[in-house]
Amino acid sequence: MYRSHTNGELRIENINQKVTLSGWMQRSRDLGGMTFVDLRDRYGITQLVFNLDENTDLCMQARKLGREFVIQVEGIVVERSSKNKNIPTGEIEIKIEKLTVLNAAKTPPFIIEDETDGGEEIRAQYRYLDLRRNPVQEKLKLRNKVALETRKYLDFLDFLDVETPYLIKSTPEGARDFVVPSRMNQGEFYALPQSPQTFKQLLMVSGFDRYYQIVKCFRDEDLRADRQPEFTQIDCEMAFVEQEDILQTFEGLIKHLFQAVRGVNFDGAFPRMTYAKAMEKYGSDKPDIRFGMEFVDFTELTQNKGFKVFDDSEVVLAINAQDCSEYTRKQLDELIEWVKRPQIGAKGMIYLKCNSDGTFKSSVDKFYSTKELALWAEKANAKAGDLLFLLSGDLEKTRKQMGELRLHLGNELGLRNPNVFKPLWVLDFPLLEWDEENNRYHAMHHPFTSPKPEDFHLIYTEPGKVRANAYDLAMNGVELGGGSIRIHDRDLQAQMFDLLGFTKDEAQDQFGFLMNAFEYGAPPHGGLAFGLDRLVATMGGSDSIRDYIAFPKNNRGRDVMIDAPSLLSKEQLKELNMNTLS
Ligand code: AMO
Repeated sequence: MYRSHTNGELRIENINQKVTLSGWMQRSRDLGGMTFVDLRDRYGITQLVFNLDENTDLCMQARKLGREFVIQVEGIVVERSSKNKNIPTGEIEIKIEKLTVLNAAKTPPFIIEDETDGGEEIRAQYRYLDLRRNPVQEKLKLRNKVALETRKYLDFLDFLDVETPYLIKSTPEGARDFVVPSRMNQGEFYALPQSPQTFKQLLMVSGFDRYYQIVKCFRDEDLRADRQPEFTQIDCEMAFVEQEDILQTFEGLIKHLFQAVRGVNFDGAFPRMTYAKAMEKYGSDKPDIRFGMEFVDFTELTQNKGFKVFDDSEVVLAINAQDCSEYTRKQLDELIEWVKRPQIGAKGMIYLKCNSDGTFKSSVDKFYSTKELALWAEKANAKAGDLLFLLSGDLEKTRKQMGELRLHLGNELGLRNPNVFKPLWVLDFPLLEWDEENNRYHAMHHPFTSPKPEDFHLIYTEPGKVRANAYDLAMNGVELGGGSIRIHDRDLQAQMFDLLGFTKDEAQDQFGFLMNAFEYGAPPHGGLAFGLDRLVATMGGSDSIRDYIAFPKNNRGRDVMIDAPSLLSKEQLKELNMNTLS
């Protein structure tokens, strides 16, 4: 028996018991005739004590232990004279009678404690050591709890967990596919699924009615803090439902998860907002509504006063950063430089300080009278001490830039408290989005999303104006999940492919299996998928999903621990009939 208890288990009630413990040697201290060792496992830390006078050999053996040695000890639980209130086992220690080294360890490349001295890169390379650290383990425990509670909730509602294949057919929609060459079908490739979308729809045709899967998805896209090339979805689909049924069911899931995992209760129903409103007020389809700073349209107020930049703009937008008139000239200049960075792309920014003495200070004083500036303040509900920022240009770009600035100011002003959770359903997404580069429409969600019946008449005349039965759940500025009511009629699906620029043959070749299935009795259906990594990171109060994944990739898509991707041997390439790369 390697252990009678874990290292997080023993308490004052266990005094005088003989116990066997195993774990990693985290730290040791020699104090006079005593050696103290912190023994760690995933459950906690227990203090071991060796007495030089009572057992010299044993104590000398303990003094030779290195960091991260795996050891087993036997001893008696005793009360500590100086108690440690910070850990649950802090009232006791183990007086050791026997010590066995199960495995020695090289000195680890960084300290394996809550606060480590290891940089990100070295920790990624030795991820198995980083994973020994408490804060990292806590994140994976949170993930486990969320997945478990998801299964409980969905199982209770009769959802069936059905697995779908990972080796599928490449399709041109969405992000780039990861592809896998087929040895048995030379020259042909599988693709890894970007999501199980078509399979879950086929399961509805098969009558499964309520499906879910906690499933890996693969997308070859540029990476960011909230994007990984392989990530996990809580993927769901339901038959005989309308949008409202789906929103209710999955709002229930999110409420259950926050309650069960974080003890957070949401009051009432989640707020809802149309996509159009979200763009108008926040310049984002996933607005962070933990704070205000909504956009105010200044176009009319500011044009035709001789300031050419505004006169030449499609739109002039303002936001009110409250209680910020203390911003120094230097801080304002830094902010202006910030919006001019290529990632944001604004040409410049105008500000208006509402001073506490009732006067105004603006960077365009010479074009606008005090009276006009007072009108600006009034329109933005600004009081003494507030600071307005104005951006201008074409509508879409200016909204986007202002949206970024709003989040940046939210961070700077401490308005984005990670322990406050503000969900928001964003509804009525456009069906299509225009792709400037390729001069064509793309499905904004995916090509299986149904248009709103009331907008259907616009589909050939003004396709860009057609709204979809599509919805996202945003929280704290993160898109946690999204979905739609699907097309379940063959002809409508064919029409959709036509609209997206597929020829009949291309549509049949790529998605014939789905359209054929729709000819054999497809029920009305719809669904959604949450990004599990994003959900867990948001619940943990973090922006980065990487910390919540046991073995993540870096932002170049590499696993630096196993050193992947890597080259194939000549033999492997030959077997696949692929040319070796020089
Ligand atoms: P969508 O593409 O919106 O929908 O994806 C659903 C959710 O998955 C998460 N997500 C990601 N998380 C980490 N890294 C990524 N690269 C990444 N890409 C997406 C997001 C997102 O909201 N089949 C549809 C769902 C449906 O219609 O039912 C789909 O995949 O949180």
